[in-house]
Amino acid sequence: MCSIIGYYGKGIAAPILVKGLKRMEYRGYDSVGVATESNNQIELKKGIGKVNEVNSKIHLDTLPGKIGIGHTRWATHGKVTDFNAHPHSSNSGKIAIVHNGIIENFEELKKQLEADGYDFKSETDSEVIANLLQKHYEKTGDVKETILQTVSEIKGHYAFVAMFENGQLAAARFHEPLIVGIGQDDFFLSSDVLGFIEFTDDAIYLENGTFVILEKNKFQILDFNGEHAKYGITKVSKEFGDAYKGDYAHFTLKEIYEQPETILKAGEKSEEAVEQTVDYMRHSKNIYVTGSGTSYNSALIAKQILSKYAKVRIEPIIASELQFAPDSIEENSIIIAISQSGESADVLEAVKIGKQANCKIIAIVNLLTSSLAREADVVIGMNCGPEIGVAATKSFTAQLVILYKIVQKLSNNKITINFEKFAESIVETLENTTKIQQTAGKLKDVSDVYILGRGINHPIAIEAALKLKELTYIHAEGIAGGELKHGPLALMDTNVFVIIFNPNDSTYSDTLTSAREIKARGAKIIGVSDIESDVYDYWIKIPKINQVLYPISEIIPVQLLSYYAALEKDTDPDYPRNLAKSVTVK
Ligand code: G6P
Repeated sequence: MCSIIGYYGKGIAAPILVKGLKRMEYRGYDSVGVATESNNQIELKKGIGKVNEVNSKIHLDTLPGKIGIGHTRWATHGKVTDFNAHPHSSNSGKIAIVHNGIIENFEELKKQLEADGYDFKSETDSEVIANLLQKHYEKTGDVKETILQTVSEIKGHYAFVAMFENGQLAAARFHEPLIVGIGQDDFFLSSDVLGFIEFTDDAIYLENGTFVILEKNKFQILDFNGEHAKYGITKVSKEFGDAYKGDYAHFTLKEIYEQPETILKAGEKSEEAVEQTVDYMRHSKNIYVTGSGTSYNSALIAKQILSKYAKVRIEPIIASELQFAPDSIEENSIIIAISQSGESADVLEAVKIGKQANCKIIAIVNLLTSSLAREADVVIGMNCGPEIGVAATKSFTAQLVILYKIVQKLSNNKITINFEKFAESIVETLENTTKIQQTAGKLKDVSDVYILGRGINHPIAIEAALKLKELTYIHAEGIAGGELKHGPLALMDTNVFVIIFNPNDSTYSDTLTSAREIKARGAKIIGVSDIESDVYDYWIKIPKINQVLYPISEIIPVQLLSYYAALEKDTDPDYPRNLAKSVTVK
């Protein structure tokens, strides 16, 4: 959610930290701050806005010193204000911290600290960490003891980096990501390898319940009992550092345009993992597929294609809901967890519940070094490269391709898909966007969009509604075609736009009838179909292809429609308000 970063080395810390924060902005971008240590003094700057905006106003990157910490925030406790931005310093000003996660018992701790005479300047839960550290450091004078006592008192999910006035840096991890980068002459601490990939590709993924203390030329990694913890140094794929927009105006647009390539790469080098998955699926009575947001929508599509083409029944479960119904998971089943980042807290929690029920965990994930990938028994890689735009685009279609590959195998190749040919048809859509752009212009002042589809096109309607909401802030709702007359028809009038997914499959004529019913009530209709009809006010043409692939060819024009409508509405397509790409809090 938030990103945290730390630097300890021979370089000037502040510009390195600012660069790293810029790359991790996808994790949260409502405010930003940096603190550095120099000559046994801590200096701190922070403000509201994105990294470049704040930096050009208050020059975060000019802070002095070779040790520092930084943060980009996605507000959970307290509004978006300068005071609530991180870093937070302790009352004495001798310790500063950055934190990602939630301290569940912060109110209780805050009361105790206030009774001890500590003041609080922010509304955040994080500030208690700074003052707790101060309290214990004043008593013990020892960083290790201070961290041990602090982590024994705080409850919740967290990763934090603490900088002490004497130049020591320490960081602890509990159910939030924290990675140590090992450079030539320096150390990095970061929520994501993107924070330091430019400087080193040697990384230590800290285990849960461990902490690290950095000192000159050395580091120690300990568990929460104070014992030395095991760790390994991993070589990180540099590819994930290559997140540049190139000639594209936004990452989101670039990522949409990468799809002809990424659908060909999805699941590449995971052939064995796909085989293994298919084998598990053949021998398991219960198969659950879970995810959040877009990744959950993939689970909905999985249900349709698996039952239709492979006669396999699965249960899609919204990851965040599983904790409220853990008994719905049968022992010794399979859980397929889908997640681009592999760090969504809800998905990790669902996996934990699955493991308690002795389930096999299969991860469909983009980041192969993520927590999910490390928790899973089988890992299938999306291979779609870094996805920076908060709204998922290419990762969604990569997930679908992997699901198709599983279905193909499960059905003993009853369905045949020529992905190369399919990629060419996507190029066709991407090269003909005039109509899509014109239609986007019509959405500028629309407040409600309903999206309708039947069968396999229904989950696509749900995903399309999510894209519109995220990118344009227009209220959008995906509807199963047949449900129209059971409620939504009451909402149809001349102020409403309806997107109709109506490809040439078994749903075609029923959906065309729905379109006419809607049109009769005055709403405007955007038809996404391979067949033109006079009922559509705006027709977005999709290629005539293998029916099984309609979901992918339908969603791509709506990704573009949402993107261009976002431009019309002057919203930031890469960083929608209030959202974050990787939601690492529950
Ligand atoms: C956030 C993002 C969504 C994404 C969801 C799941 O809510 O804003 O775009 O679909 O997380 O992310 P994951 O990384 O688990 O696929």
